[in-house]
Amino acid sequence: MDLKLKGKLALVTGSTKGIGRAITEVLAREGADVIISGRNAAEVTQIAQEMAKKYAVQTYEAAFDLADENARAALFEQFPKVDILVNNAAIYAEKKLSALTEADFTHYLAVNSLSAVALSQYYLPKMLSANNDGRIIFIASEAAIQPPADMAHYSATKAFNLNIAKSFAQETKGTRVTVNTVMPGPTATEGVAAMLADTLPDVALEAREQIYMAENRPLSTIQRFIRPEEIGDFVAFVASPLAGAFSGEALRMDGGMVPTMF
Ligand SMILES: NC(=O)c1ccc[n+]([C@@H]2O[C@H](COP(=O)([O-])OP(=O)(O)OC[C@H]3O[C@@H](n4cnc5c(N)ncnc54)[C@H](OP(=O)(O)O)[C@@H]3O)[C@@H](O)[C@H]2O)c1
Repeated sequence: MDLKLKGKLALVTGSTKGIGRAITEVLAREGADVIISGRNAAEVTQIAQEMAKKYAVQTYEAAFDLADENARAALFEQFPKVDILVNNAAIYAEKKLSALTEADFTHYLAVNSLSAVALSQYYLPKMLSANNDGRIIFIASEAAIQPPADMAHYSATKAFNLNIAKSFAQETKGTRVTVNTVMPGPTATEGVAAMLADTLPDVALEAREQIYMAENRPLSTIQRFIRPEEIGDFVAFVASPLAGAFSGEALRMDGGMVPTMF
């Protein structure tokens, strides 16, 4: 299927690892020019070079900390317009609710939610005034609607994102711009591997996935981690002109984790 993405410019935050990198790979494979972003400048450069070579598209580099307002201003100056914005980057870790501090909540909200709001507030009007076309996709999580006990600070930011995306979508009325949320379930990324190394240090690497799914995510019907490429293919479709009728949707891709149909 031709996703008709050739020549579009896409910014996927957190595209050096995991789900963000997989989304960016599919967009580049489909002919979109991509801005590689993350905090680690060396990784950004390396991935930008790899993707340019592999997919013969333009790649650009944006090494910055999303939570830093000045860094975001520099990003806007460097890239005044994009056709596709995927608010993907986020941080997560397990911590008991009773141990969470106000600083934890403030930090998680700044990185996971308020930065995505700032980027959307900047790029949405540009999409509307340029040619009334564009895509904004928030990567939330099934945790937004089914919060795990030990990640309250994280899941609250994801519920925030689900909510704010719907509000942004209401500003696109009568245009070809859409704003949607994709809600992945547990996915085999670098971030999750690091989290499992912390929570299951004594379990052999290859057994961690099975044990984690059985013990921590028993409701999953697929009983395996989703692969980042599976999310990448789906998000690239939502980012494409083929998905113009999805607007303000909360699109679940959680391997059956949420037991209700709606
Ligand atoms: N993996 C899962 O099971 C899962 C499930 C549901 C939803 N999700 C969501 O999917 C998205 C991606 O998760 P992932 O597992 O792929 O994450 P990951 O492997 O930890 O990668 C996170 C990416 O975000 C970047 N990043 C983090 N903090 C940043 C900051 N302050 N400024 C700029 N970039 C920053 C990282 O770059 P640096 O390393 O340079 O900081 C990296 O590129 C997140 O929104 C997450 O909530 C994940």
